[in-house]
Amino acid sequence: MVSVLFVCLGNICRSPTAEGVFRAMVEDGGLSDQITIDSAGTAAYHVGEAPDRRATAEAKSRGIDISSLRGRQATSTDFERFDYVLAMDSENYQNLRAICPKGQENKLAMFLDFAQGLNIRDVPDPYFEGGFGSVYEMIENAAGGLLDEIKSKHLG
Ligand code: 4NP
Repeated sequence: MVSVLFVCLGNICRSPTAEGVFRAMVEDGGLSDQITIDSAGTAAYHVGEAPDRRATAEAKSRGIDISSLRGRQATSTDFERFDYVLAMDSENYQNLRAICPKGQENKLAMFLDFAQGLNIRDVPDPYFEGGFGSVYEMIENAAGGLLDEIKSKHLG
């Protein structure tokens, strides 16, 4: 079993989108019994809330239903539970680095580093600025690269 945790700030826009997109890819590939997926936020503002309706609408327009997901905050225990802890931007990365137990640092990575042909490392925060369409496409790109990596490294 390989486990993946997507992490943004609020767990209502970027990371639930990544969770939904990646889960659909994993299901399409028949790998649901080999890969577990979750998402969390570094902040507690939206714990227990459904995803932002703009994120839900963007995903729905592309055939992905994220409406049943609920916000939760990332904890240091997540580094014990997950093989991949993937930060949506460098601020999330720094906040995760601060709660990462010694010896687990190798699990932490920037999600967009799995994307092809993108020269940025941060998924822009769409909560105040918008841009849910381009955020979705970046996430889809990186999710594909992540699945390729997991297949070749762990499920070969
Ligand atoms: P997310 O977006 O980190 O992609 O879920 C945000 C959601 C809420 C806030 C900021 C970003 N906020 O400040 O409440």
